[in-house]
Amino acid sequence: FLVDKGNHRHFMEKEIHEQPEVISHTLSHYIDFAERTTKSDAIPFDFANLDRIAISACGTAYLAGLVSKYWFERLARLPVDIDIASEFRYREMPLSKRSAALFVSQSGETADTLASLRYCRQQGVAIGAIVNVQESTIARESDGIFPTLAGPEIGVASTKAFTCQLSVLASLALRAAKERGTISAEEEKAHVRALTEAPRYTSQVLKLEQQVEKVARELTHYKHVLYLGRDTNYPLAMEGALKLKEISYIHAEGYAAGELKHGPIALIDENMPVIVIAPHDHIFDKTVSNMQEVAARGGKIILITDRKGAERAGIDTLETIVMPDVPQFVAPIVYALPIQMLAYYTAVFMGTDVDQPRNLAKSVTVE
Ligand code: G6P
Repeated sequence: FLVDKGNHRHFMEKEIHEQPEVISHTLSHYIDFAERTTKSDAIPFDFANLDRIAISACGTAYLAGLVSKYWFERLARLPVDIDIASEFRYREMPLSKRSAALFVSQSGETADTLASLRYCRQQGVAIGAIVNVQESTIARESDGIFPTLAGPEIGVASTKAFTCQLSVLASLALRAAKERGTISAEEEKAHVRALTEAPRYTSQVLKLEQQVEKVARELTHYKHVLYLGRDTNYPLAMEGALKLKEISYIHAEGYAAGELKHGPIALIDENMPVIVIAPHDHIFDKTVSNMQEVAARGGKIILITDRKGAERAGIDTLETIVMPDVPQFVAPIVYALPIQMLAYYTAVFMGTDVDQPRNLAKSVTVE
């Protein structure tokens, strides 16, 4: 059917703005809002009897999987092996009968992801797929489908599919935790409440548009940008860098903040803006130390944090984007938005073809 841009300049802009709605729609498939619990019928895995999940995906979908590793391991005490599908398919990973395999794909047609699925099929493990296109090949070849209800995504750079993938993965991790008895009923309710609020938080973030635009204008003056984060903000740092390079063609790298001293610090000078994604969480102080290392070398810091983080960072930044206060569990969903918006506006200022960046395809069906 016909999808149009409405009042938006680009599909990507429209899709960024649709997120509060599609996240809410997706969550309603997995969460019983009235009972404050995860729905069991939507989840065909026997989480209690699993000893491992192997996740494979490509691009942005891979980074959603990487965020979920922190959730599954922390909440459900369930180890996750996460791979880029093009590596996984040839890696000959041994899978026990108590493993499950999970594939994340917007299109459901990515060749490497599909090949990884078929490898797991041969190994005889249960297969689940988080897909946006429910009639896709990956969906058809899976034992269980976990839909993202993002609606058609047209912009080549994935935005709403990513936050919907995160919403599904967060719900699955919570369900796994419940079935494995690793969280209390109270904790479960608190996490479900946090998820329920995610759409509202994301609409608050959309209001930061003007400030993000200002940062984007600044980024157009640079050739390289470094993104840093710890914990679930590490995959987000990689996602921020991926988005920026895909659509603005500015070279960007996403790094775990703790790895700074093992390489990227050599690149820091006044020509290297460093975007730090750091809500005030249990390892905020560690990230502050990394920011001090950057500041001491003349690096320009753009800090994305919350009110407490902004108060306590004690660092001169080029700009601090102050996000709404959100529970740590849902922060990855909410913090995805400023990095998408930043890439989007930077690309708009650079005058690139935002929805159809050069050399990239929406769905990569060849190896
Ligand atoms: C391409 C797209 C990305 C996407 C990746 C995986 O590279 O440009 O936006 O993340 O493929 O696609 P999938 O459809 O499997 O999520």
